[in-house]
Amino acid sequence: MNRVRRLKFVLWSLLGLAASVAVPRFLFGLGASTNLSDANPWGVWIGFDVMAGVALAAGGFIVTATVYIFKLDRFHAVVRPAVLTAFLGYAAVAISLLFDLGLPWNIWHMMVFWNPHSPLFEVGWCVMLYLAVLALEFFPVPAEDFPRLAKVRAVLVKARLPLVILGIGLSTLHQSSLGSLFLIMPYRLHPLWYSPILPLLFLVSAIALGISMVIFESHVTAYLYRRQPESEVLASFAGASRWVLLIYLAVRFGDLLVRHQAGQLLAFDWRAAIFWFEVAAMAIVPIALFWTSRVRQSRAGQWATASLVVFGVVLNRIDVGGVAHLRPDGAFYLPAWTEIAISVGVVSAAVLAFLFMVERFRVWERRPADPEQDPLKLPEFDAVDDTWLGVPGIAARTTYSMAFIIAAAFGFGFLHVEAAETRGLEPIPVHQARGGRDILWIDGNLDGFGVTFKHVEHEKREGAKQSCVKCHHMNLPRDEGTACSRCHGDMYLPSDSFRHDWHASPSGGRVACYQCHARGQARTAATAVACDKCHKDLVPAGAAIKVKQYRAVAYTEAMHRLCIGCHVKKAKENKKPEMTRCDWCHKDKRQVIDSREIVLRRRGLTGINVVLPPPDAGGK
Ligand code: HEC
Ligand code: HEC
Ligand code: HEC
Ligand code: HEC
Ligand code: HEC
Ligand code: HEC
Repeated sequence: MNRVRRLKFVLWSLLGLAASVAVPRFLFGLGASTNLSDANPWGVWIGFDVMAGVALAAGGFIVTATVYIFKLDRFHAVVRPAVLTAFLGYAAVAISLLFDLGLPWNIWHMMVFWNPHSPLFEVGWCVMLYLAVLALEFFPVPAEDFPRLAKVRAVLVKARLPLVILGIGLSTLHQSSLGSLFLIMPYRLHPLWYSPILPLLFLVSAIALGISMVIFESHVTAYLYRRQPESEVLASFAGASRWVLLIYLAVRFGDLLVRHQAGQLLAFDWRAAIFWFEVAAMAIVPIALFWTSRVRQSRAGQWATASLVVFGVVLNRIDVGGVAHLRPDGAFYLPAWTEIAISVGVVSAAVLAFLFMVERFRVWERRPADPEQDPLKLPEFDAVDDTWLGVPGIAARTTYSMAFIIAAAFGFGFLHVEAAETRGLEPIPVHQARGGRDILWIDGNLDGFGVTFKHVEHEKREGAKQSCVKCHHMNLPRDEGTACSRCHGDMYLPSDSFRHDWHASPSGGRVACYQCHARGQARTAATAVACDKCHKDLVPAGAAIKVKQYRAVAYTEAMHRLCIGCHVKKAKENKKPEMTRCDWCHKDKRQVIDSREIVLRRRGLTGINVVLPPPDAGGK
């Protein structure tokens, strides 16, 4: 077998494996085929397939801009493959999304039910529109081979410039709006990755990645099909890419400095380690390499450096999309093999489609000749048992379908469908919902200033079952320990915990109006049923804190009122005044002072409402 056929054999096998996993995914849902949970709702399918997939497709808009807008004709040779890659990349993203959406058949909803406040709304529309634009941009290539399509083709070729401009607009908008998506979770994302200028960082790194993808892809296909890579053109791209990467580096570190987060860089923890690894792979090392003209000119140098950038940026997207969300106290997430199989399968399908297109149509100036596709070549026999496979073209198809079927059979063999089917339905034990730990690390904004909280010890002291209501005064339906942050949503500011319209909407709580407003009565606050009619599950009556209004106090304050309130009381009973002191909970006194200062400076507030213990209790 030659290089191309060996690769296709592997790709078809991976596709077969993915096909077997797709069955339980769509029959039994996400719980059956992923390790995702409420604590970690976004996994590889978002981090790799969507975030990285979109970034990998950035070559399309960069090359079309270079050639059609800046009129640099010498880059013309790489336009078609770049547009094709972008198209297939976006198609792969759209297909992956179908796997990740809980109700994929509702994907058309965003076209009809608009929610223009949501960054996801923009992301969705951009994907759809850009995919359509890319299809139109690429259509003239296959149409060359079909004389009957000549008229359509002529129209599209005339419309190229407006299409290219539209495409550039959509994809820049979209590359950056994938960053905006994460602006809504400042306390979830680690400060080394969270930044108000994430959209800008995403755009710049996408440009760098797009350029590197063109280089990478050209060399890989050159190897596969034994054709000449466009080395000179690629050297210019390499030259441009180092500048883009340099700008990226400056912006990224500058941003950390401005946000006073540079200290995190020297923290000796796994997050800082990942950060340095990521930045080194995507920017620092590639800049150094591309600055050497020997590397820029050599085939191996171009290929290796571009691969490094691709790897680094993909890692960055995975980090932002998932890894940097992991909290020390959160349930741990490792992707299931089934998740990885789907991701790899989608990529394999895209690569196979790419290979098909370049073999069948004129994507490069010269179509690659696969020596074994020569119809005059001799028929083949199977290497294992000498079965006659026919002419090479047919023989290839036979081997690929065999690879697909055998891999799918293996996949079905490994699936534990029965176990998986019930896994999502069983209630999760409380202990497990807390990630299996007795001690929680409460650190709402992930700034490292947190409090260790011995949950089980407190539970036991207050009486195992009845204790919950003292602290968990309100839960979401069917839940018994809703994270306080679901309602106490901001670290320092009160927030509205009741989203009226969301409750009634089909994509929200799906509660009918009359379930809260009795029929035939005026619909007002006075006549609406109390929240705890529904939000009482597993919290027995008599919660210590009653909800009378829907403005929930800030997270810090909720913690302080709850924890300090009880500690002050118990301090008197147990004659243990030290229980109320700041350092009883905040073990490092410096941290309290520091964090208070940081808070005040950052928020421009005159003071946060720390409930100070009464002076006689020894407060500090
Ligand atoms: C009974 C335990 C307890 C005591 C006593 C206590 N706190 Fe806290 N405090 C917490 C908890 C829990 C949090 C939430 C931690 C987090 O999310 O970072 C918190 C958060 C804070 C924060 C915000 C932390 C941040 O990361 O921005 C500040 C500031 C703070 N406390 C100051 C104080 C001061 C000052 C005192 C003494 C007057 C005090 N606390 C006493 C439990 C306590
Ligand atoms: C002394 C107060 C207190 C008591 C008593 C208590 N909890 Fe908690 N619980 C907390 C706090 C505080 C958290 C951390 C929530 C957060 O980080 O937002 C928590 C977290 C949890 C979580 C994890 C939620 C998440 O996803 O972060 C679960 C589940 C839970 N509690 C269940 C229970 C149950 C069941 C009981 C009764 C047996 C109970 N708790 C008793 C204070 C308490
Ligand atoms: C489902 C929403 C929801 C959840 C979950 C929730 N709260 Fe609340 N909480 C509220 C609302 C709404 C209020 C305001 C009640 C009022 O002022 O009438 C409130 C008020 C409070 C107060 C009282 C503030 C005061 O006025 O003295 C404390 C303390 C508190 N919450 C702590 C917690 C803690 C700790 C947790 C997690 C263990 C938690 N809450 C989880 C909605 C929630
Ligand atoms: C989850 C319970 C719930 C559902 C479902 C619900 N409502 Fe309400 N509604 C309330 C509560 C609570 C208030 C009081 C709101 C407040 O004071 O902020 C309210 C207030 C109102 C008001 C008065 C607003 C005002 O400014 O005084 C109207 C009108 C209303 N609801 C209509 C509806 C309609 C129409 C639906 C169905 C689409 C609906 N509600 C569904 C709970 C609900
Ligand atoms: C008729 C039943 C019902 C009533 C009454 C009701 N809710 Fe809900 N609420 C729901 C359901 C169902 C959900 C969705 C739970 C889920 O996603 O698992 C929900 C979810 C929520 C959430 C989570 C939404 C989010 O942003 O993540 C909050 C907060 C909430 N309710 C607050 C309230 C408050 C405050 C009241 C009282 C004014 C109230 N609810 C009254 C049924 C109700
Ligand atoms: C219902 C009352 C109550 C509430 C609410 C409460 N505590 Fe406590 N806490 C206690 C008691 C009682 C002790 C035991 C004091 C002793 O050692 O005698 C304690 C002990 C502690 C200790 C020391 C435990 C150790 O051995 O290291 C810490 C830390 C602490 N609490 C933190 C918190 C935090 C943080 C919260 C809020 C999330 C909180 N507590 C909420 C009653 C409470």
